[in-house]
Amino acid sequence: MTELAVRNSIEPNSIVGESLEHYIAEYERCGEPQVVSFRDKCPWIKGTDRYTHLIHRYTAKLLPHIPTFFLASSICPSNATILDPFAGSGTVLLEGMLQGHRVLGIEINPIARLIAKVKTTVFNTISLQEAAEDIIKSISLSTHDPEIPDFQNRDLWFSKKVQKGLAKVKAGIETFQDESIRDFFWVCYSSMVRRVAFADPRISPPVVLKPEKFDSNSPAHKKVSRMVEERTNANVETLFALTLQEFIKRFRRLEEASKVRELGSAEVVWDDALNLNMAPIKEKGLLAKAAARMFPLDSVDLVITSPPYMNAQKYARSLRLEWYWLGLGSYDEFRAMDASMIGTERMTCDEYGELKTVGHAVADEFIENVFSRDKHRARLMANYFDDMRTSFTELFRVIKPSGHFVIVVGNNRVLKYRVPNNQILTDLATQEGFRVRLMVIDEIKSRGLMTKRNTTADVIPAEWIIVFRKPSTTDGA
Ligand SMILES: C[S@@+](CC[C@H](N)C(=O)[O-])C[C@H]1O[C@@H](n2cnc3c(N)ncnc32)[C@H](O)[C@@H]1O
Repeated sequence: MTELAVRNSIEPNSIVGESLEHYIAEYERCGEPQVVSFRDKCPWIKGTDRYTHLIHRYTAKLLPHIPTFFLASSICPSNATILDPFAGSGTVLLEGMLQGHRVLGIEINPIARLIAKVKTTVFNTISLQEAAEDIIKSISLSTHDPEIPDFQNRDLWFSKKVQKGLAKVKAGIETFQDESIRDFFWVCYSSMVRRVAFADPRISPPVVLKPEKFDSNSPAHKKVSRMVEERTNANVETLFALTLQEFIKRFRRLEEASKVRELGSAEVVWDDALNLNMAPIKEKGLLAKAAARMFPLDSVDLVITSPPYMNAQKYARSLRLEWYWLGLGSYDEFRAMDASMIGTERMTCDEYGELKTVGHAVADEFIENVFSRDKHRARLMANYFDDMRTSFTELFRVIKPSGHFVIVVGNNRVLKYRVPNNQILTDLATQEGFRVRLMVIDEIKSRGLMTKRNTTADVIPAEWIIVFRKPSTTDGA
């Protein structure tokens, strides 16, 4: 048995190590991107309902097969330090930990940090079960009138009955003693919010359910009316109890895996990929920034990440209702978080009146073309490429010499222009000092990335995976 096969004796990953070497050799020989189906490469991963991956919905989650492939390949040493600087809901963190590595995550959205942290915690599920029974009992016995959080359009999104139910469960979680289990409860609670809101479940950012949009005799009208009725009368306490049981089942899988092999560790350490530091994570994904320290230089063996897409995704807005119910802050604080994201659409008109270019010929041509039709979008593109360049500078600083950087990108459209992000981001990374080892195209099987309402960006038909290496100190220029 190879070393990889021993290390991953539960899952036959040894095959993929050989495949990566093969693709790199082919890429070196012909210079053409290699077409790889990551699903076919990791056939033991059946669907995405694996361990705790599905505890919470999240926009543009990475297919777990992609990190699994690279984590088990020759570019990933044993017991490696892995970093995902755009960790989202923690797909890379969980897969890296399952393969025995130490994985660090950075993520701007506290709800995503909370999900990633909980998703990668190996709980004792007997204790979880006891805690679940305790909290359900204490919520049902509570006679207090809980405070209902006040936020914009609250009554548009939730019936009075549901508001009371959510407030009651929230109050119950707040009084629970153990912080780690409290975070487990918060994720469980947050995962329920959209299920009881008058929001269309098929669309990622909240959009109000409106039966009147359909012909009154149509099946669609009936279906949406039924959803509105169910959500008006939803019993939040019962739903919370059921969700806890669903969660415990998923966490049992992780606990069982930890008994048969040595898992690594996963930690969410910081919020901003533009300025890498580390700080301890507290409750609800918040960071103790007063205790921040520098992210050590030359310390990471492998970065695997899928960065935000330019204007194609509404990462923050998709979790707006959960933000309020988790008590993470006011509307202004939510907007500030959204505005700090790479690829954000939030900016004032004084910010985008002037043309801004980024010093990359292809990117600047696109930016200038877009500027003539839509100044806001042109500035968004320029900021996006500028920020991605800064994030590459940061990554170059923390990756070890000879370490690798794997990035997953899509070429989305801005107005009528299909932007070659793969080419532009590759150039920006090589300008920082990285060297390209391999380019791969994976066909995206699911087209669920975009909302139908979005007219300024489109479905991203294929994903590019680019593998870079940071030169070693002895490499020639
Ligand atoms: C494509 S998603 C990553 C999804 C993730 N791989 C998963 O499977 O859940 C990109 C992420 O980048 C985050 N992000 C945006 N700007 C950021 C920044 N400046 N620093 C760190 N994360 C950022 C977004 O919040 C989003 O979660």
